Amino acid sequence: MAASTTSIPSQIKAWVYNEYGNIEETLKLDSNIAIPQIKDDEVLIKVVAAALNPVDYKRARGIFKANEPPFPTAPGYDVAGGVGSLVIQLAKQVFGASKVAATASTGKLELLRELGVNLPIDYTKENIKELPEKFDFVYDTLGQSERALKAVKEEGEVITIAGPVRETEILFREWQGEGSVGPKEPSSIF
Ligand SMILES: NC(=O)c1ccc[n+]([C@@H]2O[C@H](COP(=O)([O-])OP(=O)(O)OC[C@H]3O[C@@H](n4cnc5c(N)ncnc54)[C@H](OP(=O)(O)O)[C@@H]3O)[C@@H](O)[C@H]2O)c1
Repeated sequence: MAASTTSIPSQIKAWVYNEYGNIEETLKLDSNIAIPQIKDDEVLIKVVAAALNPVDYKRARGIFKANEPPFPTAPGYDVAGGVGSLVIQLAKQVFGASKVAATASTGKLELLRELGVNLPIDYTKENIKELPEKFDFVYDTLGQSERALKAVKEEGEVITIAGPVRETEILFREWQGEGSVGPKEPSSIF
């Protein structure tokens, strides 16, 4: 959400680190973090809630330090991140998927329906490995390739964004077996 210039404070409180290492040790609350000065082609956003993702601990360890801005650094890189909710809308609105199924816990099933999901699945009650229906395309945001492969049709596709590609490839080969048709080899966009 863009903030109006009159409501922008000069400083905020934030959890930040000033060195790379174990985030549990480096993260400190700082009450005097200066609001970034933006250039003409940049936008300052007010973040109300931020997701914490694996990318945050990787950044904190310095894995991407060649491209990092100067310290202090606040985790919450994705801001208020929801890959799955975006993919549901892309599948329905852009790619015209006839049927979209998605998993969430009980309290979020209505949100899935509002986003356009035809088949909301409560993962606390149903096991997706045992669903009678199989799908043309499975988009795995959990890094659980084994379960994704159980839900895809033969010659369907699996994309995983959260798990190691190597592990997914091994599972795929085990699943496919000698001489079977199987789904296309899983790919990763991570
Ligand atoms: N490759 C990339 O570019 C990229 C970018 C951003 C994020 N990621 C990674 O993608 C992953 C997910 O990102 P996100 O935070 O945006 O999540 P998301 O896809 O928006 O949400 C995850 C969904 O999975 C559901 N879920 C949780 N546990 C489950 C289980 N055991 N079985 C079935 N469904 C389950 C959640 O339900 P509830 O919320 O109800 O529990 C939620 O609906 C993270 O690991 C993140 O690091 C990758």
